[in-house]
Amino acid sequence: MPTSLIDKFNRRVDYVRMSVTDRCDFRCVYCMAEEMTFLPREQVLTLEEMAFIARAFTELGVKKIRLTGGEPLIRKNVITLFQQLGDLDGLQELNLTSNGSQLTNMAKPLVEAGVSRINISLDTLKADKFKELTRTGNLDTVIAGIDAAIAAGFSRIKLNAVVLKGRNDDEILDLVNFAISKGVDISFIEEMPLGNISEHDRALSFCSSDDIQEIIAQQYPLTEITATTAGPSRYFSLAGESIRVGFISPHSHNFCGDCNRVRVTVEGRLLLCLGNEHSVDLRHIIRANPGDIKVLKQAIIDSLDIKPERHYFDLEQEVQIVRFMNTTGG
Ligand code: GTP
Ligand code: 5AD
Ligand code: SF4
Repeated sequence: MPTSLIDKFNRRVDYVRMSVTDRCDFRCVYCMAEEMTFLPREQVLTLEEMAFIARAFTELGVKKIRLTGGEPLIRKNVITLFQQLGDLDGLQELNLTSNGSQLTNMAKPLVEAGVSRINISLDTLKADKFKELTRTGNLDTVIAGIDAAIAAGFSRIKLNAVVLKGRNDDEILDLVNFAISKGVDISFIEEMPLGNISEHDRALSFCSSDDIQEIIAQQYPLTEITATTAGPSRYFSLAGESIRVGFISPHSHNFCGDCNRVRVTVEGRLLLCLGNEHSVDLRHIIRANPGDIKVLKQAIIDSLDIKPERHYFDLEQEVQIVRFMNTTGG
């Protein structure tokens, strides 16, 4: 059995993103509809099943796992999952993407469990705008969470801002200055058309990374950092500052040629690409063959044959991908 995962376009997959829960205490307008129904418990992988799948991936050469959601930290007992993954042989990085709402309590235990990098969503620095964009979130709680993450000693902290024209595109420099003041990196993200959110027209709210880059460059000359990890982010250093600014531009700068990742949805679907539906039902495989890691590994190896070459997002098409970002795991 091979110990690395290579697809038919010769891309090596050594990174897995796993959604820990579809539930979230926020309802961000670009991610969820206002009224969401969440999955029944029996459809969701148990924490033990997630750890088993993660082990199979590391035995196949995966070096990096990122837990996402929904909000991973609202899943009961989730810290035990972090602890189990933190102990996996061969795993070089255990990372987390979070909305920051639970970090005042959980930042320290996460570092102790072995989480090295954390990405925290922050789209605005205005309290009323934060409420508008997250519907249920509180800005002060998230800022306190960011401070707790800084104090806890993660090896890298990155803020994520999804930019929507007419909503938060007037705050680009404020967000960069905030990141500088905290000594953390920041990425600006073009919104992706996953799920029928209906709150706004995604074509009208589109804000290109190039426009954002231009705004930042007027104040801080930017130099592209070439030696970054494969994946969607293009990173730049800022003259005179130590932080990095990243752009995730699924529409304006396609990055699929360098893709190094697959996802496992909260239902245990191995999703070969965020922007396509090609998938394998790992939940069925592990429930039909309890404890049989060989069968699971073979299914993962075989799945690479159907990894699509790239995504084709079209903002003009109303509902292109019906699954929402929260079940998918970003
Ligand atoms: P790394 O995992 O270190 O590369 O960080 P990241 O910035 O990719 O991860 P994060 O969870 O912070 O996600 C930031 C944004 O990138 C989210 O909007 C994700 O949906 C998006 N993203 C991550 N990976 C992919 C990908 O493979 N394809 C696309 N289209 N978007 C991605
Ligand atoms: N398009 C782009 N990014 C999104 N996120 C959630 N929904 C979308 C979307 N439709 C981001 C969140 C979080 C990361 C996991 O994905 O802001 O930072
Ligand atoms: Fe929750 Fe993250 Fe989706 Fe916002 S973007 S609703 S914080 S899962």
